[in-house]
Formats: sequence, C-alpha cells, structure tokens
Amino acid sequence: MMTATVKLVSRVRRLGCVLAFCFLALFLWGLPGARALDNGLAMTPTMGWLHWERFMCNVNCQEEPDSCVSEKLFLQIAEIMASDGWKDVGYEYLCIDDCWMAPERDSEGRLQADPKRFPGGIRRLANYVHSKGLKLGIYADVGNKTCAGFPGSFGYYDIDAKTFADWGVDLLKFDGCYCDSIKHLADGYKHMSLALNRTGRSIVYSCEWPLYMWPIFKPNYTEIREYCNHWRNFADVYDSWQSIRSILDWTTSNQERIVPVAGPGGWNDPDMLVIGNFGLSRDQQITQMALWAIMAAPLLMSNDLRHICLEAKALLQDKDVIAINQDPLGKQGYRLRKEDNFEVWERPLSNLAWAVAMVNLQEIGGPRSYTISLTSLGQGLACNPDCLITQLLPVKRKLGFYEWTSSLKTQVNPTGTVLLRLERAS
Ligand code: GAL
Repeated sequence: MMTATVKLVSRVRRLGCVLAFCFLALFLWGLPGARALDNGLAMTPTMGWLHWERFMCNVNCQEEPDSCVSEKLFLQIAEIMASDGWKDVGYEYLCIDDCWMAPERDSEGRLQADPKRFPGGIRRLANYVHSKGLKLGIYADVGNKTCAGFPGSFGYYDIDAKTFADWGVDLLKFDGCYCDSIKHLADGYKHMSLALNRTGRSIVYSCEWPLYMWPIFKPNYTEIREYCNHWRNFADVYDSWQSIRSILDWTTSNQERIVPVAGPGGWNDPDMLVIGNFGLSRDQQITQMALWAIMAAPLLMSNDLRHICLEAKALLQDKDVIAINQDPLGKQGYRLRKEDNFEVWERPLSNLAWAVAMVNLQEIGGPRSYTISLTSLGQGLACNPDCLITQLLPVKRKLGFYEWTSSLKTQVNPTGTVLLRLERAS
C-alpha cells in the first residue's frame, strides 16, 4: 500500500514535470520573435550613467561649477565609474544628455559642443572616457530643436551620425521634440538608425519614438525594435515615489503589448535609475532596483556618483540583482497578480530559474505579510518539483528548499519590495 502511494505520487510528479515542460515550451516559443536592430549591440540591457534627471540643463558654470553640464562633470564621473567599482559590475556607458551643444552648428553644418563648457570638445572627452575602459553616449533630437531648444538633427541626420562616429561616440540618445508630424518622427528615427549603421561604428541607438507616438496612435513595436536598441515609452522619471509608481502602473497596463517585444538587441526603457538622490526612501530605492531588474530595463543611473551614500552604492552595485537584469535569456518580466495592495511580478531567467518580486503598495501602516503559493509561480514551473529560494532584496538570505505544493510567507515594508531568485533544485 505504502509503495503504491509512493509510486502514484512519483507518477503524478513526473506527469507534473512533463506538463510543466510543455507549458514552458509554449511560453518560450509562443512569444513573437520580433527582429531586433541588427547592430550586434545591447544583447543585454545597457548599463551606465546619464546626466539628465540629476543635472538637467544647468548651464550656469559660473555660479555652479560642480553641477553644470560641462566637460569637468563628465571627466569626474568617468574617473569615479572606473575607480569605484561601477565599471566592474557593468556600468559602462557614460552618457551626456541635452544641453551639451553650442547654440549654432559650425560653418560646415556640424554640431559642436559649447566651447566654454566643453573646451576640449567631445572627441577629447571620448578619448578620456575610452582610456578609462568606458564608453561615451551623446544626445540629439530627431526634430527641429532638442527639447531644451538646442539645434535639432532634422535635415542633418547623415552629417550628425558621421560627426558622432568621428568623435568616437558609442551611444546616441535620440529625443523626439519639435517634430512636425508622425511621419517626420518615424522617418527621422529610421533615417538616423540607418545613418548610424552606415558609419561602421558600433553605436547603441536609444530612441524615444514610442513615447512621442502614444498620444496620437499606438506604436508599432515590431517596427521600432528593428531600428532601435531601446525605446522610452512613457514620461520622464522624476526623483519621487509618485513617478516610480506611475512608470510601474503604465508598464502593467501595457504589458501585453510591450513585454513580448523586448529581448536581446531591443529593450523597453522605463527611464533612469534615481537611486542615490533625494526623493526615494530606502524601501522605494529597493523597489526601483528590483523592478528595473524584473523589467529587463536599461540601468542608466542619474545621480551624483561623487557624493553617494554607501547604502545606495551597495544597492546599485548589487551583483545578484544586476545578474537578474542582465540575464542572457533576455525575457522581460511582467506583473503576475495584484491583490490586497500587493503586486507580484516574475521574470523567467536562464537555466529555468525565475526572479519574483513582491511589492507592498500600501502607504500606511508597517510591514505586511504576504503568502504566496509556489504552484502559482513561473507558469507553474518555477518550483516544479522543488526549488531553492534565495532572497536578494532587501537583504540577501538563503531561504532553502521548497516543494511545489508549499507556500512562502514574506514581510514587505510599505512601498518596499522583496526580491527572490528561484532555482530548480532537481
Ligand atoms: C526629454 C527626455 C528626457 C531628457 C530631456 C532633455 O524629452 O524625455 O529624458 O532627455 O528631454 O531635454
């Protein structure tokens, strides 16, 4: 009797495994395989630093020499990225945003850096950045002007692509302000993509094409993925919890459309990491880091690496969380469920592992407990027949082995997140 029960249990288990495999196959092969921009870049989400959220368009170097958009700022950040462990964990692209340009093009129609704030020019800056083992990103705009009113690239796409390549630029953030029409926007983004490719230099192409299309009509993500390495969908990130929440809410409302299209070579970009600034509590910073990892988002920090507290630094440099973000399977995660002001997100990883995040959205009270049944995770596969669970955030802790039919109880702080990694045990 005893052996019969054991056999039955093991047969049910085996059946569970077979069904689970079919499920996995459907899940992995069922997704549309949109073709990515064929430049061999961004096979995992881009990692680096971008000046905009923290330094914006501060051009007043007279009064604020340490926080204006200038060569000095980028030289200092490059130095720190190379020496303080940032480069070692993967933050590679040091990116200039708007407001680097002189107000006019030169006599040959080329963009030029503001001569007072960038006396050495972009080529020399690129050389320095490269000498530190880093890459340099720059910013331009598909329309008649950049969002801050500097010269736009309309009518100059080929010249600008060539200028950036000549300078040794490695990434272009191409904004979408001051376009006359949707056709101008789409043609411009495509034109610049092809122009960059024609230069023969490897330049990551970061677009805002869908963001500027949404108000008019739904973007064609299959097409966008063929031209861009990542694309902004939603409004600019601010240094506030409200902003982070609005980005997450937008993402979940549109996940059926945007999640399947992400993959090696092309990613949804929910905008910069604002960890290490002023507006997010410790728990909210953990939520941003965990969810940007689940969303396979580019990790572009916008903060002052010269003055960053150790806690924020450790969070941004957390290798286990970065490994989730950079997982080679390259599938974006999604929200699995929302109940009782908790959200559960999950992301499939290579080697049949999964990342799971539990977010407590309740902004009143203290830590709340949430119990999750493991059968519900990873399309029923994450823990089938058992798994090893490690909590990565808020602190790393091995939780041990769990059977498929068991459940896991966690405590999550208000606006905080518990991030787990589940690995197959057998
Ligand atoms: C916005 C863009 C921001 C920043 C800014 C510069 O449109 O979304 O990320 O680049 O322009 O002016």
